[in-house]
Amino acid sequence: MIALGCDHGGYELKQEVIAYLKKNGLEYKDFGCFSTEAVDYPDYAKLVAHAVAGGECEKGILICGTGIGISIAANKVKGIRAALCSDCFSAEATRLHNDANILAMGARVIGPGLAVKIVDTFLNTPFSGDERHARRIRKIEED
Ligand code: RB5
Repeated sequence: MIALGCDHGGYELKQEVIAYLKKNGLEYKDFGCFSTEAVDYPDYAKLVAHAVAGGECEKGILICGTGIGISIAANKVKGIRAALCSDCFSAEATRLHNDANILAMGARVIGPGLAVKIVDTFLNTPFSGDERHARRIRKIEED
C-alpha cells in the first residue's frame, strides 16, 4: 500500500501519479488534499509520514510546489526517510543507499512525464542491503 499526499501545489501532479498507480495495479491510500484550494503542506506530510512510520503503508509519495516543505515536514517523523527527487538517478540512489521510504517531488519543478518515471524508479528499486548503508541509516536515527 502506497500512501499519497500533497498540498494545493501538488494536487494536479498527484492525479498523474494516481493514474500511473492505477495503470500498474498498485494499491494506494490518498490522504489528500483533494482540490487546488490552498492548504498547509505539513498537515498532509504528517498524515502520510505517520501511515508509513506506523506500518499502515509500505511507502509514501508526497508532492507540493517545490517538494521542499513537504519533505522537511515528513522527515520530522521518527523512522521517516523522505527524499526529494527531481531525477531518476537520485530516486534510484536513495532507495539503494538510504532505503528512503517516502518520495517527495515538486510539481512546480518537474513535469508529469519525468515525475512518473521517478515514481516508477523509486517503487521498483530495492534497498541494496549493504552493511555500510545499513550502518549509516542506523546513525540517522541517533541523536
Ligand atoms: C505553496 O504555495 C508552496 O509554498 C508549497 O507548495 C511548497 O512549495 C512548500 O515548500
